[in-house]
Amino acid sequence: MRTVPLPVVHPEFMLEPIIDGAGRDAIGLGQLRQPGLDVRHGTVLTLEDISVSFDGFKALNALNLYIGVGELRCIIGPNGAGKTTLMDVITGKTRPSTGKAWFGDTLDLTRMSEVEIAQSGIGRKFQKPTVFEALTVYENLELAQKTDKSVWASLRARLSGEQRDRIDEVLGTIRLEASQHRLAGLLSHGQKQFLEIGMLLMQDPQLLLLDEPVAGMTDAETAFTAELFKSLAGKHSLMVVEHDMGFVGSIADHVTVLHQGSVLAEGSLEQVQADDRVIEVYLGR
Ligand SMILES: Nc1ncnc2c1ncn2[C@@H]1O[C@H](COP(=O)(O)OP(=O)(O)OP(=O)(O)O)[C@@H](O)[C@H]1O
Ligand SMILES: [Mg+2]
Repeated sequence: MRTVPLPVVHPEFMLEPIIDGAGRDAIGLGQLRQPGLDVRHGTVLTLEDISVSFDGFKALNALNLYIGVGELRCIIGPNGAGKTTLMDVITGKTRPSTGKAWFGDTLDLTRMSEVEIAQSGIGRKFQKPTVFEALTVYENLELAQKTDKSVWASLRARLSGEQRDRIDEVLGTIRLEASQHRLAGLLSHGQKQFLEIGMLLMQDPQLLLLDEPVAGMTDAETAFTAELFKSLAGKHSLMVVEHDMGFVGSIADHVTVLHQGSVLAEGSLEQVQADDRVIEVYLGR
C-alpha cells in the first residue's frame, strides 16, 4: 500500500461543510447561502477606515471598500500598494490598528480568529499552489471537505453519497475529471491552481479571495480561469488581485485601484484606465 505523508492541517480543512446540496442551485444572488451570514443589505464585505501600520509605515491607510453579494471585484495597483495586506486583514492574519471590518451585516472580522473567519465562509487562495502533491486530485478534494469528526462522524454514512456528488461536481467545475486519480504532484502549475480553487469550493465559501491567480499560467489556463471566475460569481462573491490587465479586462465589471494603502479609484476598467492618477502611479509605468 502506498504510504502518504500526513499533510499539515490547514484551518480550512477543519471547516464544517455547508449541507445545502438540494438548495444550492435554487439559491440566487442576494440571498442567504451560509447559515448565519446575514447579507440583507446586499453587501458581503464592508471595510471602513482600515489602517495597518508596520513599524510606523502605513501599509493600509484609512481604506474603505464595499463588496456586493455575488460580485466579482478586481483589485489592482502597484507593488506594495497593500493588496495582500488587505487580504490579510479580511482573513484575520493581520489586525488593523483602526477601522471596521464586517462580513455580511453582523460578523465583526476584527474580533474573529483566522479559523472562525474561514469557518464563517471566507476562503483564500494564496499565489503559490498548496495542494498535497503525494495525494491524488480526488483525495485532495476529499481532504478539503473533511469535517470535525466529533460533530459529523455520525452523519458521515448518510452524507457520503452527497459528498461524493459534490466532489464530482467540483471536479467538473475545475475540469479535472480526467485527472482525478492522478497524483496532484504530477499536474501542471495551472492545474494545481485549479485544484486548489476546487479545494476552496468544497467548503462552499460565500467570499473567495484570490491573490494573483493567473501568475505563471499559460494563455489557455488564464482563459479558463476567466471563464471559471465568471461562472463562480453570483453564487459566490470574489475578490481577485491581479496585475495581468488582459485578464482583469476579461472578468471585471468593477475594479478598485489601490495606491499607498488607500483606494485611489474605483469603477469599470475603462473608467480607471482613463483616470490620470491611475495612469501616473500604475498603468502608465
Ligand atoms: N509583515 C510586514 N512587515 C513589514 N512590512 C510589511 C509587512 N507586510 C507587508 N509590508 C509592507 O507593506 C506594503 C504593502 O505590502 P503588500 O504585500 O500588501 O503589497 P501588494 O500590493 O500585495 O504588492 P505586490 O503587488 O508586490 O504583491 C509593502 O511596502 C510591504 O513591504
Ligand atoms: Mg501582494
